[in-house]
Amino acid sequence: MKVLVVGSGGREHALCWKISQSKDCEALFCAPGNGGTQEVATNLDIAANDIAGVLRFCKEEGVGLVVIGPEDPLCGGMADELRAAGIPCFGPGADGAKLEGSKAYAKEVLERHRIPTAGYRRFDRSGEAKDFLNACKVWPQVVKADGLAAGKGVFICADAKEACSAIDAVMEERRLGDEAGASVVVEEFLEGEECSVFAITDGEAILILEPVVDHKQVGEGDTGPNTGGMGVYSPAPSLGNRVLRQIEQRVVIPSIHAVRREGIDFRGVLFIGLMLTESGPKVLEYNVRFGDPEAQALVRRFSDDLLPYLLASAEGSLKDMDPPTWDPRFTVGVIAAADGYPGEYPKGNKISGLTEAAEVEDVVVFHAGTAPKDGEVVTSGGRVLCVSSMAEDMETARDRAYAAYDKISWSGKFCRRDIGGRVEARKARVAALMGQKLDSGKGAEPTVPLG
Ligand code: AMP
Ligand code: GLY
Repeated sequence: MKVLVVGSGGREHALCWKISQSKDCEALFCAPGNGGTQEVATNLDIAANDIAGVLRFCKEEGVGLVVIGPEDPLCGGMADELRAAGIPCFGPGADGAKLEGSKAYAKEVLERHRIPTAGYRRFDRSGEAKDFLNACKVWPQVVKADGLAAGKGVFICADAKEACSAIDAVMEERRLGDEAGASVVVEEFLEGEECSVFAITDGEAILILEPVVDHKQVGEGDTGPNTGGMGVYSPAPSLGNRVLRQIEQRVVIPSIHAVRREGIDFRGVLFIGLMLTESGPKVLEYNVRFGDPEAQALVRRFSDDLLPYLLASAEGSLKDMDPPTWDPRFTVGVIAAADGYPGEYPKGNKISGLTEAAEVEDVVVFHAGTAPKDGEVVTSGGRVLCVSSMAEDMETARDRAYAAYDKISWSGKFCRRDIGGRVEARKARVAALMGQKLDSGKGAEPTVPLG
C-alpha cells in the first residue's frame, strides 16, 4: 500500500519512521516533510494545509492511506475531502477536529455529556468578559482564546488586571489572529498533576495507548513559558493501574461516547489533556491528533506494526484488531531547541553530529525543525530535534538520550536537562491527589467500578 503522512514536524518523522518499517508499506510519502523524513519517505513539495494538492497527489498515485499529523489541515476539512474521494484517512473530519479548533465547543460537549472538567463561562464580547473578571473573587482564573493559537492561547491570570490584559490581547488586539480571538473561555483554575492520554478510535472501538508524559514549560523545574513540549518519557510510573482505570472509565470512554452522540464519525486519535485533581481526573483540553513529542515516545514503544491499526481506524474495523504489544522498556525523548524558542529564534544553522548521536545504543534522532540544504541539514524551526532513547530503566534511558544530545551541535542549541527527572516526586503527588479520594472515600462523586 502507498501511504502519505501530512505534516513536517517531529511527530511526522516519528510516524514515517514507524510506518516505513511496515510490511504493508510499499511506498511512503510525506507532505511536505523535513530533513529527517527524507531518510525514510519521499518528501513532496505540497504544504501540510494544501487540501487540493494532497487530494490531487493521492488520486494520481493511488494512495491507500493518508495519516494527517497536525491540527490545521484537520480543522480545515482535509479528512472530509479525502474520504469523499474514497481515500481512507487517519484523522477526524472538520466536525471532530472542532473539539480542538474551538475551546468553547469542546467545553459545551464536555458539559453536555457530564465529563469532568473545570467550570467555565464563554464570552463573545470583551466588555462582558471583563465585567465578569472584575467581579471575580477567586483567583487565579484561566483565560483561553477560543480558536487555534499554536499553543499560545492559554493565560493563567493571577488577578483581574492580568486577566483583562489577556482579554484585550486576544479579543481587542486579536494578537492570536482574528478567528482565535472572536470568543474566549474563562475557566476555573485546576490544581493538580497534568497527564495526557491517547485513544485511537474508529468511532466505535477504542484503543487506549500507553501513558506518556510531556514537559510543557521551556525551563528546568517546569519554569518559564509554555512550549509545544520540551521532552517526553514513557511509561509513566506515576500513573498506576488504578489511576489509569479511573481515567479510562471517567474520561476516555465517556469522551468517545460523547463524540458519537454528537453525531461525529471520529476516525483517528483523540488526545486528552488532563489534570489529576483531588476530585479525580478532569479534562483540560481535547486535541484530535498525536502529540508532538508524545508520538516520538509512542512509536518507540509500540512493538507491533502500526500501519494496520491506523488503517483499521480509518476504515472502521478497529474492533477486529488484537490489542498491540508494547515494549516494556523506558523511552526518553529530549528536545534539542533553537535559542530563543518559544519566542523568536534564528534559522538556517548547520547541524553536525547527527550520525554520531544515532550510534549511541538504542538512540533514534527524530527531526522536527530541520531542512535539507546543499547536502547538509540545517535548523528550520524552534524545536529542532527529538533525541529519543530506550533502555531497561529510566536512568539509563536518560543517560543515553543526553549522551546522544551532547554529540550534536549547532550554534544556539539548548535543551532541558531534567526530562524524566521528576518521576518519584510526581508519583508521590499523584498518589496523594488520587489516593486520598480512592482510599478514604472522601470524594463527593461515586467511585466507578475499577474492574
Ligand atoms: P490547554 O492548551 O488548554 O491544554 O492549556 C495549556 C496549559 O495551560 C495546560 O497544559 C495547563 O498547564 C494549563 N491549563 C489549562 N487550563 C487550565 C486550568 N483550568 N487550570 C490549570 N491549568 C490549566
Ligand atoms: N505536546 C503537546 C502537543 O502536541 O500539543
